[in-house]
Amino acid sequence: MSINTLIAEEDNLIIPTVGNWAETKYDLIFNYNSLFSTGMKKLWRKRVYIDLYSGSGKAKIRNTDKIVYTSPLLAMKVKDPFDKYIFCDIDEKNIESLRARIKKEHSKADVVYVVGDCNEHIDKIIQEIPPYSKENTVLSFCFIDPYSLKLSFDTLKRLSDFRMDFLILLALCMDGKRNINLYIDENHDRIDKFLGLSDWRKKWEEAEKKRTNLVKFLADEFTKQMVSLGYKPEAIDNFIPIRSDEKNLPLYYLAFFSKHERGYDFWKKVKNLSTEPELGL
Ligand SMILES: C[S@@+](CC[C@H](N)C(=O)[O-])C[C@H]1O[C@@H](n2cnc3c(N)ncnc32)[C@H](O)[C@@H]1O
Repeated sequence: MSINTLIAEEDNLIIPTVGNWAETKYDLIFNYNSLFSTGMKKLWRKRVYIDLYSGSGKAKIRNTDKIVYTSPLLAMKVKDPFDKYIFCDIDEKNIESLRARIKKEHSKADVVYVVGDCNEHIDKIIQEIPPYSKENTVLSFCFIDPYSLKLSFDTLKRLSDFRMDFLILLALCMDGKRNINLYIDENHDRIDKFLGLSDWRKKWEEAEKKRTNLVKFLADEFTKQMVSLGYKPEAIDNFIPIRSDEKNLPLYYLAFFSKHERGYDFWKKVKNLSTEPELGL
């Protein structure tokens, strides 16, 4: 099934407007959720879906009347829904809208809502992941969809203690490239937190001398940090660019991280279904 079958309706709750590039994102995450939730159903007792920047569950595509389901509701509309859902958003109104939609369309689902900054509320989020035992095996999938690079590597580190795959929208161009002149300032710690590194400025200076571009530098350093948590280095070969509507330039990259080959089997299938051209960092 593709996103075209997941058209939603106006319901007088919060519906932000997004560029049509977001449809590519929704298509990819829906396809991945479908493969993961069905493929893992018989192998794990509990499959947990975590959405750290969940939003309200619907969006309107700019310059159209099209309303679509977004990440949290897409994760509920797969053929074999997850056993538990954990949704976090900093905006209480988004969570209220999401809660109302889920009450209406998925009232039986096991759902926990966390209002606030996911980085600050990580303890609360972690407490909601069911404990793992031989009898009660738990596999989680975490989708991370921020507007910018305002994501703390420490959050990923905490979550990586669990059996967990990540799909992360990296705003390498949208935020990194546009604002590097700000972030290079020692008083600005966005990249320090995103990479979990305080010495990145020195590394960037060296990389720049070798004519490495910033997007590739950030992608490499972030992947190295994920590899240090046990994730597979091949992640970097499987980033998918999400392009802007007007200029066809990559705004974001969707990056998948797993500690296991099977995760990449699913992601590569999704990537092959995608019409997006190759990475070209
Ligand atoms: C790009 S939207 C993503 C929405 C949704 N995932 C989708 O599929 O369209 C980012 C969302 O993250 C929320 N947000 C921003 N900063 C956050 C933070 N630090 N912690 C949790 N949510 C945050 C915003 O309110 C917004 O709803």
